[in-house]
Amino acid sequence: MKIAFLGGGNMATALIGGMVECGFAPGGICVVDLDEGARARLRAKFDVRTLAAPDAGVFASDVLLLAVKPQQMKAALAPFAGALCGALVITIAAGLRLADIARWLGGRAGPYTRLVRCMPNTPALIGAGITGMYAAPAVDAAGRELAERIVSAVGNTVWVDDEARLDAVTGISGSGPAYVFHFIEALEAAACAQGFDAESARRLALDTVLGSARLAAASADAPAVLREKVTSKGGTTAAALAHLAARGWYDALIEAVEAATARSRELGDQFGTD
Ligand SMILES: NC(=O)c1ccc[n+]([C@@H]2O[C@H](COP(=O)([O-])OP(=O)(O)OC[C@H]3O[C@@H](n4cnc5c(N)ncnc54)[C@H](OP(=O)(O)O)[C@@H]3O)[C@@H](O)[C@H]2O)c1
Repeated sequence: MKIAFLGGGNMATALIGGMVECGFAPGGICVVDLDEGARARLRAKFDVRTLAAPDAGVFASDVLLLAVKPQQMKAALAPFAGALCGALVITIAAGLRLADIARWLGGRAGPYTRLVRCMPNTPALIGAGITGMYAAPAVDAAGRELAERIVSAVGNTVWVDDEARLDAVTGISGSGPAYVFHFIEALEAAACAQGFDAESARRLALDTVLGSARLAAASADAPAVLREKVTSKGGTTAAALAHLAARGWYDALIEAVEAATARSRELGDQFGTD
């Protein structure tokens, strides 16, 4: 199995690390990156083949994983136009639609069809990501399974059957880590306001989020039930939740996801133009 990466930055490094741990052979992985620093880091860390520009071996790969920034994609794909020999192409670029990538890859032969679009998130950097995935109709079950095997090396996956839903995935889990980090920041600031030193405040805030997420993941109860279980009538948690409700916290988060989803759609329009 020959797998080529276009772009060898943060996400490609996370994916390659996860893949090697899952048993993909480093000898079958090749990374194309303009930056010699990035290439040297990848060679030293994983002993993969690296190149400054794609060669015939890259064009003949079984899988091509697109991991350059969305604004770099069109130029990065120029050497590939009409040159691929049937590779399954997986893109992790935020916002970029398959129709645009298909057009850029197809060259004079017309749109390229074996495409899977993914939206990972930053916890992928520690193997704890969640990735939304969409496969173009031309991708068969074996292609979907292969894409999932690669992407699940850095966490869990959720398939969507409409590419437009990946904009919502971006708003929920793609941008989601920032919402959680912001929550941790606020809880930490609240602990400092209550007189805790910075280190204790961080410990209290971080372990509360970590422990609650682990409990929610391990429990048969839904998060709403777990919340009710720690909210006794007239108690401390009830006082806090009443305050959050009065300030519209829950609706604000739903609206925030809507704003991120709309922005993802806009970025797709912006980056996908010819
Ligand atoms: N990081 C995240 O949290 C996250 C989450 C979801 C999706 N993504 C997506 O993942 C993709 C990669 O993100 P990243 O954070 O890994 O980016 P990154 O660290 O900037 O990596 C991109 C790499 O591609 C190189 N590159 C640029 N143009 C190239 C070309 N024409 N040919 C070959 N290599 C080229 C860049 O080199 P230079 O530095 O010299 O430009 C850089 O080393 C993006 O499309 C992003 O939207 C990222």
